[in-house]
Amino acid sequence: MTKGSTTLSEQPKGPTLIAPHGGRLVNRLLSGDARNEALSRAASLPRLVVGEWEASDIELIAVGAVSPLEGFMTFDDYNCVVNGMHLANGLPWTIPLTLAVDETFAASVKEGDEVAIYDAADTLLAILHIESKFRYHKQNEAVQVYGTDDEKHPGVAALMKRGEVALGGPLDVVNLPPHSDFQQYRLTPAETREAFRKRGWRRIVGFQTRNPIHRAHEYMQKVAMEITDGLFLHPLVGKTKDDDVSAELRMRTYEVIVEKYYPRERVLIAVNPAAMRYAGPREAVFHALVRKNYGCSHFIVGRDHAGVGNYYGTFDAHYIFDNFDPQAIGIVPLFFDYTFYCRACGNMASVKTCPHSKEHHVTLSGTKVREMLSAGTMPPPEFTRPEVAQILIEGYAAQQQGAGI
Ligand code: ADX
Ligand code: MG
Repeated sequence: MTKGSTTLSEQPKGPTLIAPHGGRLVNRLLSGDARNEALSRAASLPRLVVGEWEASDIELIAVGAVSPLEGFMTFDDYNCVVNGMHLANGLPWTIPLTLAVDETFAASVKEGDEVAIYDAADTLLAILHIESKFRYHKQNEAVQVYGTDDEKHPGVAALMKRGEVALGGPLDVVNLPPHSDFQQYRLTPAETREAFRKRGWRRIVGFQTRNPIHRAHEYMQKVAMEITDGLFLHPLVGKTKDDDVSAELRMRTYEVIVEKYYPRERVLIAVNPAAMRYAGPREAVFHALVRKNYGCSHFIVGRDHAGVGNYYGTFDAHYIFDNFDPQAIGIVPLFFDYTFYCRACGNMASVKTCPHSKEHHVTLSGTKVREMLSAGTMPPPEFTRPEVAQILIEGYAAQQQGAGI
C-alpha cells in the first residue's frame, strides 16, 4: 500500500455533522460554582426586566442557537448586520439581536458595567457585561431589515415600541427562561446534534414553520426527505402575532401527522424558542443559520418564507441567498416554488412539475381556511389532512367558547 493512503476501514467512523456557524457551538449557560457566584453577584447589580422577545433571544444565545453570538450585539455588529447583512467579523448574519432600554435606564449605566436581567416573573436570567452602549436608528433598521417602516408590520410595530438605546456585550446566563410547555421538545443544539449523531444522520433537512401543518408542508418535507437522512421538524414557538394559531394547537397537528404519515424514526421534532420577526427574506437566512447551529445540512425555503401581508415578493426569500457565498452560509437552502394539489395530476406539485392550469389546483387562502375551520367545515383533504382539520376545528370552537362568543 502506498504511503499516506488509508483503507476503507481506517476512515473516520461515524457521521460528521455540519460545523456550527463560525465553527464553534457557543454555550453561555453557567453551571456549578460559576453559576452560584453569578447568582450572588447579581443581587448587587442594576436590575433590568425584559419581555418575552428579549428573554427568547437570551435563550437562543445561551444554548448556541445563534452561534457565534455570545451576547447582545455591540454597535459594530449591529451596524454591519443592519446595513450589510454580515457580522463585523465578515460572517453572514441578517437579523439584529439587540437589548434596547429606555433613556432613564441607559443614563444609569455605562460601558464596562454589568446588569442583571430578569424576566417579568422575576426570574434572574443573565448578567450582561456592557461592552457597547449606543443609540440606534429605528427607521433605518425597519427599512433595512423588514423592508418597510409601516407600523402595521408586526416586526416594525415591535421595534418602534422598544427603548431608544441598545446595550451590547456578552451574556452569562444563569437560568434559561422557564417554560411549562413542550418539555420533551425543548432540545438545545448540542442535544439535537447528539441525537443526529446517534441516529447516524449527516444530511438533515430543517423545516421552519409557525402554522399548522398542511399538505404543501408535508409534500416539501417528504420531497426533501427523499434526498436526506432525516427531517428536523422545528416549529417556532416563541412570540408570534396574536392572530397566528397557538403553538399548542400547532404542535398537536405535527404530532398527529408524524404519528400517522411519517416514518417515525426519520423525523426529529423539537421546538425553536425564537420570536417570529416576520422579516421575510432576511429572516429566511436567519432561520437557515439557526438550523445550521442545530446541526442541519439543508433547509427548506418555500413561498413567502417568514412573510406577512404583502410586504415581500413571493420568492424574495430565495433571491436573498444570492447575496452570499454559499460556503459562508454553509447550510444548503432547498428552494420550493408554490406547491399545491393538482386534481389533473392526482398528486402534489408545483408549476415546476405540473402542466395543468389553475382550475385543477386546490388552493385556498389562509383567510378562507380560517373561515371554514371556525365554521366547523373541513377543508378539502387535498389541502389539509382531516386529522389536522379536526384538531383545528376543535381548537377554534374552544377559543370561541372561551371568548364567550
Ligand atoms: S413561516 O416561517 O414561513 O412564516 P409557514 O408555516 O408559513 O412559516 O411556512 C413554513 C415553510 O413552508 C416556509 O418555508 C414557507 O415558505 C413554506 N410554505 C408554506 N406554504 C407553502 C406553499 N403552498 N408552497 C410552497 N411553500 C410553502
Ligand atoms: Mg407562510
